[in-house]
Amino acid sequence: MADRYLSFTGTAPGRFLSRRLGLPQPAALRRWSPQRPSLDGALLRLTAGKSGLDPDLASVLSRTGLEVAEAVPAPAGALGVAAVVLDASGVRDVDGLGEVHAALHPVVRSVAASGRVVVLGAPLDAGDHHQAAAQQALEGFTRSLGKEIGRGRTVNLVRLTDASAAESTLRFLLSPRSAYVSGQVIHVGADAPTAPTAPTAPGDWDRPLAGRTALVTGGARGIGEAVAETLARDGAHVVVLDVPAAEADARRVAERLGGTALPLDITAADAGERIAAALPDGLDVLIHNAGITRDRRLVNMPAERWGSVLEVNLASVLRTTDALLASGALRRGGRIVATASIAGLAGNAGQTNYGASKAGVAGMVRALAPRALAEHGVTVNAVAPGFIETKMTAAVPLFIREAGRRMNSLAQGGLPVDVAETTAWLAHPASGAVNGQVVRVCGQSLLGA
Ligand SMILES: NC(=O)c1ccc[n+]([C@@H]2O[C@H](COP(=O)([O-])OP(=O)(O)OC[C@H]3O[C@@H](n4cnc5c(N)ncnc54)[C@H](O)[C@@H]3O)[C@@H](O)[C@H]2O)c1
Repeated sequence: MADRYLSFTGTAPGRFLSRRLGLPQPAALRRWSPQRPSLDGALLRLTAGKSGLDPDLASVLSRTGLEVAEAVPAPAGALGVAAVVLDASGVRDVDGLGEVHAALHPVVRSVAASGRVVVLGAPLDAGDHHQAAAQQALEGFTRSLGKEIGRGRTVNLVRLTDASAAESTLRFLLSPRSAYVSGQVIHVGADAPTAPTAPTAPGDWDRPLAGRTALVTGGARGIGEAVAETLARDGAHVVVLDVPAAEADARRVAERLGGTALPLDITAADAGERIAAALPDGLDVLIHNAGITRDRRLVNMPAERWGSVLEVNLASVLRTTDALLASGALRRGGRIVATASIAGLAGNAGQTNYGASKAGVAGMVRALAPRALAEHGVTVNAVAPGFIETKMTAAVPLFIREAGRRMNSLAQGGLPVDVAETTAWLAHPASGAVNGQVVRVCGQSLLGA
């Protein structure tokens, strides 16, 4: 269902009218395309406090494809600054926060539409409450700037100790691929639940998944189809799993992507064993995307509606994960990306079953991540989509749909490809230091924190 309001505010009269009436001003977001794979303009690198991230940070930033500058290029030019990276990892007290203000205050206006602000922070030091206060302050700062910056610009915070372990993350956040990810705090490396081994840099950043096999549950349509497409773009052989009733669609998607269809109801007790049998050479990437809603308020919800949602969205995710890890079908260096939802993180009326199932996914990810990495060399993360334009949300009544679209910092719904790009970053061979994270793809929705 097209977002007519977004098209209208993209015209001169629409812009004028929406401004006069104080209505939301969504900007058309810049997304990845083969013709325009990176942002346009310079990357402004700033520092607050005494950072220890160099020289790795300098080399990582130099490989983003953007020209790195230490001051706003004069004249800034029509394009302005594409991105600002503020290294605040050395901020240890309130004076250091003053340096954050001093660095960003003069340049924030120069950031181009659909530009990026990435703040780098350090892990919180439990033994130094001044450092912890200052570093935690960066979260409130990031989320507040995200809410006010407008024009399709995003603001995210990455906590890290080693810039090279964060290369895939910084490349993602500093590219058009992260168009709908804003207000997020992402832990990379030593601050994640476990300190992983050095990340494996892929031979080719354009096709990082070449030679790898990725299975996408619920891949026949919607977000799953976009995930399958994006992983195939990145070089993976994709296996499109969906219910037997959707076999024709699964085959159509698989054929288009040079992959394989696997008709299977993921709630089958032996689904994990059947996946392993269908993929005798094993798999590298497991995407738990299949999901259903059966909304009712709790007072009206029969056990059957409760059970079917918990079964598809959570029990089958736990069962297949356990089976594929235990059998070794999911190879070392593997990636699991599960699908949560902001409804699970924030709660949503009429969705006690769905909210429970999706919060359960986040719990599974956080608890399993350190163990899966230590025992199987596999990372486990989740994406938590907000309002995404799909058949699922097109069926939502008009007023609720409009509210869902506008109640986020970017004032619009996301597209399936936004979830897919985030999934592809987490599935990346170089994302080995990103583990146990639940990353919202929600345009910084007002629902929940
Ligand atoms: N659309 C949104 O705004 C949104 C927001 C938050 C989270 N999500 C989550 O993202 C995921 C994809 O959502 P979508 O909007 O693309 O939904 P969708 O209904 O368009 O697609 C879901 C796919 O999963 C398949 N599926 C359902 N039950 C299955 C089973 N038992 N075995 C195998 N396949 C099964 C369906 O056949 C379908 O192809 C879901 O987990 C959903 O909860 C979506």
